[in-house]
Amino acid sequence: MDFSSADLVDAFRIELELCKVQAGENVLIFTDPRFVRPEYAPAAFAAARTLGANAYVMTSQGDQMLDDKLVRAAWRNADMILGMSMLPRGIGSWMYTDTSNDALKAGARVLMVQEPFAGLKRMLPNETIRRRGLIGAQMMQEAKEIRVTSAAGSDYVMRKDGRKGAYQCGIADEKGRWDHWPSGMVACAPLEDSAEGVYVVEPGDVLLGLWRYAQNRVKMTLEKGKIVKIEGGSDAYLLQAYLDGHGDDGAYRFSHAGWGTDERADWGAIGMDSESKYGTVLVAIGRNVFDAPTEHCGLGGVNNSTAHCDICCRNTSFWLDGKLIVENEQFLVPDLR
Ligand SMILES: [Fe+2]
Repeated sequence: MDFSSADLVDAFRIELELCKVQAGENVLIFTDPRFVRPEYAPAAFAAARTLGANAYVMTSQGDQMLDDKLVRAAWRNADMILGMSMLPRGIGSWMYTDTSNDALKAGARVLMVQEPFAGLKRMLPNETIRRRGLIGAQMMQEAKEIRVTSAAGSDYVMRKDGRKGAYQCGIADEKGRWDHWPSGMVACAPLEDSAEGVYVVEPGDVLLGLWRYAQNRVKMTLEKGKIVKIEGGSDAYLLQAYLDGHGDDGAYRFSHAGWGTDERADWGAIGMDSESKYGTVLVAIGRNVFDAPTEHCGLGGVNNSTAHCDICCRNTSFWLDGKLIVENEQFLVPDLR
C-alpha cells in the first residue's frame, strides 16, 4: 500500500511522544536522496512541529561518509536525531559511525526509522516490549558466557566478560540512548576472539546481510572467534563471497548476539521483523563499533570490519552461564515472557 506523508504524521507524532520530544527541542531528521521512503522525512518534520519542537531536515549527498564537520556538528548539537538513510555506503549503517557515537556521547537521543510503514505500525513500541528488553539486557549484562545450540546442529560458545547487555524496544527517550523503530531485541557484543564451535543456519532462517532467506543449510566452523570454514550449497557460497568481499579479519568474527522479544514481528517480512521475532536467536557477523553512554544501550565492541551480516534463526536455544534462557522460541525465564 502507498502512503503519503500526511498519512504518516499521526504515527510519527505518537513515536516522538514516546521519545519524549518536547517543545523547543532541536530535532534533526537525517536522510539522503536515495533513501527509499522519501515520505518519511516530511512526516517526521510535521510531527515534530506539532509538538512544538524545532525541526530540521538534512539531506546529505549519496557519497557522504558522515565524517565532515557540518554533519558532525549538526548531529552533536541535536536533542533528537531521526536517522532515515542507508549512508554511509560500505559499512552497513550510520549507527556504526563516529558521528553517531559522538552524538550519543553528547547526549542526543538517536532513533533509526527506515523500515516499511507496515512494520512501523505492526511493531509500534509498547511497555511489554520495553520490559522484556530491559530484564533481558540485565540478565545478558551479568552473564559471562553465551552458548547457542539447536537440533539443526548448532553448538557454539562465546565469552562476553565485561561487555554490556543492551536492548531495543523502539523508543529513544533517555539522553544518549539509541534505538530503532521498529524493533524488540536483547543483544551484546561477544568478545571477538572467543567463539568456538559450529553455527548452523537452516533453510527459512534469515541471512539479513544478504537480504534473503536461506534456501539450504549453512554450516560455519568457529575457532578462536573466527569463522574458519563455511560449508553448504548456494547460501554458503554467497555468505563466503560476501565476507571475502570485505575481506578484513573482522569480517569473519562476530558482532552481536541475542534474541527477539516481539510476538508481533512477522517472519514473512524480512528486516527488523526477522531480528525482533519473539524467541528467535540472532548472532551477527562483522562490525560492532557502536556505543552509547546510556545503560543497556550500545555494544561496546571493537570489531572495525566493513562487513555486517545479521543472521536470524528459528528453533534455537540460547544459554547464559549454563542456564537455558530460550528453547525453541519459548522463554524459560518467566520474566522474559
Ligand atoms: Fe546487526
